[in-house]
Amino acid sequence: QWNLKTDWLGQNMHFEEQVDSTQTVAHQLAREGAEHGTVIVADEQLKGRGRLHRPWHSQKGSGIWMSIILRPDIEPHRAPQLTLASAVAITKMLKFLTGVQPKIKWPNDIFVGDRKLAGILTEMQAEQDLIEYVIIGIGLNVNLDQKAVPDDLQDVATSIQLETGKAWKREELIQELLYQMESIYELFLQQGFSSIKQAWEQDAYRLGETITVKARRKEWEATLIGIHEDGALIVEDENQSKSVLYSAEIDWKK
Ligand code: BTN
Repeated sequence: QWNLKTDWLGQNMHFEEQVDSTQTVAHQLAREGAEHGTVIVADEQLKGRGRLHRPWHSQKGSGIWMSIILRPDIEPHRAPQLTLASAVAITKMLKFLTGVQPKIKWPNDIFVGDRKLAGILTEMQAEQDLIEYVIIGIGLNVNLDQKAVPDDLQDVATSIQLETGKAWKREELIQELLYQMESIYELFLQQGFSSIKQAWEQDAYRLGETITVKARRKEWEATLIGIHEDGALIVEDENQSKSVLYSAEIDWKK
């Protein structure tokens, strides 16, 4: 059914019609010993979740709701780099198959114009300095038409269908997405995050533009300079003073 182009990613694939969250299923499978590269896809999530405990709308059949179990042999502090690498894989798939021009908003969002198309939620289980597993959750709005977009998200969410004017087969998108993820993951392990930095910056949202940064309990206006070799965000304030941020929220005036 899936016709995967990958060597290992998704070769163990679980498809569920309805779950609370594929993240929860993935955690359970990982605890039970599921192998590296196991993928869980659901048609519908009842309690899809996003970053910062935000809910993630996951209506039946309208998107790709997927969690990937990885067991990388890296230091736990590098796990956030996997979020950035996954964002690059998603943009590559979108550009290659759909013609949509996606932009990556640090650290985990994919935007088209001013609307969010996809989000990534990375969760990790680590014991001291050893990663037991990482779960990469990807939510990508595919066949969500305007009527189906919840009221509170009308101005903020988009889908591939809304951007291209036609419905898409999720299987084809998943196949390419997993292929891109596997290639980038291997590059990341072999050559480090710096090998992906350029691809990330190429599609970065608002690079060189003024954004609002919320970090270190402050909020200020800054220019988005790019990302550091290790994936941290680099911004510069009006006094040309640069900050390297590992945890922040960015936004811009609409
Ligand atoms: C975000 O933008 O804050 C991240 C959204 C991540 C949503 C995906 S959908 C599949 C997986 N299961 C979940 O409950 N969340 C992630």
